Amino acid sequence: MVETRLIDGKAFAEGLRKRVASDVTAFHAATGVTPGLAVVLVGEDPASAVYVRNKGKQTVEAGMASIEHKLPATTTQAELLALIAALNAEKDVHGILVQLPLPGHIDAQAVLATIDPAKDVDGFHVVNAGRLAVGLDALVPCTPLGCVMLLKDRLGSLSGLEAVVVGRSNIVGKPLAQLLLREDCTVTIAHSRTRDLPEVCRRADILIGAVGRPEMIRGAWIKPGATVIDVGINRVDKPGGGTRLVGDVAFDEAQGIAGAITPVPGGVGPMTIACLLQNTLTAARRQLG
Ligand code: GUN
Repeated sequence: MVETRLIDGKAFAEGLRKRVASDVTAFHAATGVTPGLAVVLVGEDPASAVYVRNKGKQTVEAGMASIEHKLPATTTQAELLALIAALNAEKDVHGILVQLPLPGHIDAQAVLATIDPAKDVDGFHVVNAGRLAVGLDALVPCTPLGCVMLLKDRLGSLSGLEAVVVGRSNIVGKPLAQLLLREDCTVTIAHSRTRDLPEVCRRADILIGAVGRPEMIRGAWIKPGATVIDVGINRVDKPGGGTRLVGDVAFDEAQGIAGAITPVPGGVGPMTIACLLQNTLTAARRQLG
């Protein structure tokens, strides 16, 4: 039985936001430029509205300009592409984020492909995905970046460790695998079709849950002492009524087995916006340099 440590992403993200804010102050003093982040929200998805509000608040708190475009769900793809073209050309906008998911009548890949890669602070453009894959400087997706920061803070060097990423999305699983490879991990991407998933997970020194299925990864799948990063945020019904948030990992079962684990909420979640702020400053620096 090992003692399972909690990885406090909320505290780490607060520290990162403070470091970004002081770097923004220094950048402004040196250049006279205030980094600007444009966020585009189409439609009224309530979870997206909450994210966008938090992003706006934390962008301003970090000393940057937040430019919000809230468009109705009936917005056409052509209208959205025209807005992105205008933001690409706007010199006070250094970062552009189009909140996903988009309404069904809009082709998300076509929209993401229109964003200037230099302003693509989500790192979703194929140019940034490709640059990451071949080891060039890239804007890197925020959630994977946050996961690797937490891992390096906890473990120091990740070199030679077995990492299993459960989930193969373009937003988390694939870019996270690339980042872990860059850290010299031996990386496996597992998914819903993986044969004997529990056995694959039990190989992992670093186990990442990024499938979006509540508590799918059980305690018995975790190698004793492993570091577990839970990216899932799933809302489930409580037996007595109401809802609660759970991750992709059965958190209670992991106690006494995992060496360390991120909680949900308060683990990876807060790192995403903190990394977005860092990417916005990076994008602004590169556009001036
Ligand atoms: N929807 C959920 N997470 C994200 C994210 O990191 N970026 C964008 N653009 N949309 C999201």
